Amino acid sequence: MNPNLSIYDNLGGADGIRSLVEAFYPRVQKNALLAPLFPEDIDPVMEKQYMFLSQFFGGPALFSEAYGHPMMRARHLKFPITPSHAQEWLKCMSAALQDIGVDETLREFVIQRLSGPANHFVNTPE
Ligand code: HEM
Repeated sequence: MNPNLSIYDNLGGADGIRSLVEAFYPRVQKNALLAPLFPEDIDPVMEKQYMFLSQFFGGPALFSEAYGHPMMRARHLKFPITPSHAQEWLKCMSAALQDIGVDETLREFVIQRLSGPANHFVNTPE
């Protein structure tokens, strides 16, 4: 991990974010708790996540350019998200980071950055 670079660049820029998203959603779709929340056609979700994570990690603001202010908590309100959903989401992300060969230091840093939003999107008790 190079601390002088953004997470976006540490992950390998556009190609790295693309690989991460492509490793993440198959894991979500295999996850018993998460899968029922997502549509069968996952491609549009993957594209939005690619755009969002690009900007969240310090790359180009693709999501905001296309969809305006992210308002991510609001966008998740129509789905009942419990603390367990947040944990499983982060576990899938950690596994996806391993899948694409991200080293432990960077992986833990990325997961820490995503833990805030993930826990913030919890809107339903267990
Ligand atoms: C806490 C656990 C989470 C759950 C259970 C969850 C679940 C979902 C679901 C069900 C959708 C909508 C799929 C559809 O279009 O029908 C979605 C969309 C999305 N999620 Fe999450 N999510 C979680 C956390 C996160 C986090 C931490 C991020 C990013 C930091 C994120 C970013 C997004 C984005 C960018 C979209 C697309 C939004 C849009 O449609 O405009 N999610 N999520």
